[in-house]
Amino acid sequence: MKFLVLNGSPRTGGNTDLLVQSALNAIDRHSHRVDLFRLNDMNIRPCQNCGGCTDTGVCVIEDRMQQIYPALRQADRIILASPIYFFGLSAQTKAMIDRCQPLWCEKYIHNMPIIQTATHRKGLLVLVGGMKKQIGADCSAATATAFFRSVSVEEHKTLTFLGIDARGAIRSHPTALQDVFEAVRSLTGH
Ligand SMILES: Cc1cc2nc3c(=O)[nH]c(=O)nc-3n(C[C@H](O)[C@H](O)[C@H](O)COP(=O)(O)O)c2cc1C
Repeated sequence: MKFLVLNGSPRTGGNTDLLVQSALNAIDRHSHRVDLFRLNDMNIRPCQNCGGCTDTGVCVIEDRMQQIYPALRQADRIILASPIYFFGLSAQTKAMIDRCQPLWCEKYIHNMPIIQTATHRKGLLVLVGGMKKQIGADCSAATATAFFRSVSVEEHKTLTFLGIDARGAIRSHPTALQDVFEAVRSLTGH
């Protein structure tokens, strides 16, 4: 299987990073391929709403998003991980999602399937927030659901960890790292 892992946190060694590491540990690299993208390290311009993709389904912006498009098309499993910022996904994550507008056009305007794999695609959303307010998780989850459906991931699980603020504080959570590990294991069919 091909896994696509999208890490939307800028903080190295931070909570999202550690959860992503746990996700990666759950994937047997001999049996599965993994494409990992740290969105913060990539030049991904925000969508310009230029309309270029409406007719063609292709984004005219030549930047690192062009590496993510084929990975999005080919993945059997997509894992999206983001910290919660101002009750939503991080800007890095949201910029990537907005650039999926060509795939949205392809699916909903041109009625063309975007999937290049035979399997039923599944996803996992991992959210970390420093506050204990549910609204940040709800808003983030709504945007992430729109993303998953637009790229033809028809079902996904969500794991949310709130009240986790300091860098690495997720290590003190009683189950978080294991929860992510097990969720990814179940994505591999174990
Ligand atoms: C710009 C900014 C905005 C934030 N807004 C929220 C928020 O709205 N809700 C929340 O629960 N936490 C918020 N936080 C806290 C982060 O979600 C928290 O520190 C999280 O653990 C960061 O994850 P990371 O270590 O993977 O970067 C915010 C942090 C920053 C830097």
